[in-house]
Amino acid sequence: MSKKGDVIVGLDIGTTKVCAVVGGVTDTGIDIIGIGSHPSEGLSKGVVVNIENAVNSIKGAVEEAELMSGCDIRSVFTGIAGGHIKGFNSHGIIAVKGREVDENDVKRSIEAAKAIAVPLDREVLHILPQHYIVDDQDGVKTPVGMSGVRLEAKVHIVTGAVTSAQNIVKSVNRVGLTVNAIVLEQLASSEAVLSQDEKELGVAIVDIGGGTTDIAVFSEGSIKHTAVLPLGGNYLTNDIAVGLRTPIMEAEKIKIKYGCAYTPLIPKEETIEVPSVGGREPREVSRQILGEIIEPRMEEMLNLAYREIVKSGYEDLLAAGVVLTGGTAMLEGIAELTEKQFNMPARRGYPTGIGGLTDIVNSPLYATGVGLVIYGSKDRHHRGRGRSSDVNIINRVIKGIKRWFTEFF
Ligand SMILES: Nc1ncnc2c1ncn2[C@@H]1O[C@H](COP(=O)(O)OP(=O)(O)OP(=O)(O)O)[C@@H](O)[C@H]1O
Ligand SMILES: [Mg+2]
Repeated sequence: MSKKGDVIVGLDIGTTKVCAVVGGVTDTGIDIIGIGSHPSEGLSKGVVVNIENAVNSIKGAVEEAELMSGCDIRSVFTGIAGGHIKGFNSHGIIAVKGREVDENDVKRSIEAAKAIAVPLDREVLHILPQHYIVDDQDGVKTPVGMSGVRLEAKVHIVTGAVTSAQNIVKSVNRVGLTVNAIVLEQLASSEAVLSQDEKELGVAIVDIGGGTTDIAVFSEGSIKHTAVLPLGGNYLTNDIAVGLRTPIMEAEKIKIKYGCAYTPLIPKEETIEVPSVGGREPREVSRQILGEIIEPRMEEMLNLAYREIVKSGYEDLLAAGVVLTGGTAMLEGIAELTEKQFNMPARRGYPTGIGGLTDIVNSPLYATGVGLVIYGSKDRHHRGRGRSSDVNIINRVIKGIKRWFTEFF
């Protein structure tokens, strides 16, 4: 069980940045006590493609987080995404042994739902209980203690490619850290940016990063659908570089500073300065033109995300609408465009429900990192045991002595 003084670390290995978030467990919840962020190398569309580069990026982020928090990080909760992720619904039925459903019956019903043929090259990452049916009583959230002879568990199962998960673990291990759990990234983000009310009412979270768009649909408090699309903000940057004939680095800066996903919001007369390639003079370009490059690509990505929401069958039942997070959610006009495309309310998702360095992590960029810490605290609590504690007083003392030696000799 998470104890006061425990430290939980979330390691978000994204396509554009690796970020380590250190959360300290307090009496009232979790305080963010450190964060380290390093540009990501060795990943493509959310998947590790070069271990050596990934290791260096992870090391950079973890060292920064250690310095800021004063903690010795030894184990992390890390995320997983990529086009290989598949989510589907399943169910398992068992006969109740006594006349009353107990914890063991619930466990057995979930085990039964798990008994599906998973190809050898894939592994089950999550089994997320949705609800239970006791005899003919549908929609039961907590069946323990109910009378009945038949228990059915409805679950959402997430699977991923074994090799992708192994490469994440390998990269983290090479930095000298152990992996407590690998968590689907949108599941982590949802812990940080969605409220319980939204999950009950019906909500879709769309985490648009640099290389992936991660989607999860919630209704009646449980997860109904998950999907990962191998597209993200990097496409916008490439389109801007080609469309405005400017280097990728400049295109990225222009996107962040002047980008807008909804052209009606751009004043007609506004212009921007665009650096040219090959030492030519910079040019003045209408900001409207930049918007006309971004808008159709963003529409295309949002349409594909909407198709996933339609696949869930809950598109008309999402009373709380859609919550956009991930770095690309910071794009001006994205909520307006999403409302138009999805025909439902949209808002940006910022990490909430934490204390400490909230002003630093108060950005959609850190939804997954912070979410991993929150997930980790619940996971530990659930398991009822503290895994290898990250803060080890002896290690801290040794580290302090080492630093002292390097400084003085
Ligand atoms: N203010 C901004 N406006 C528009 N886009 C932005 C802004 N800030 C960051 N981005 C974009 O957000 C993306 C990075 O987001 P994020 O850090 O969530 O991705 P990631 O986690 O590294 O990648 P992924 O989750 O896709 O593997 C980049 O494409 C970046 O250009
Ligand atoms: Mg991400």
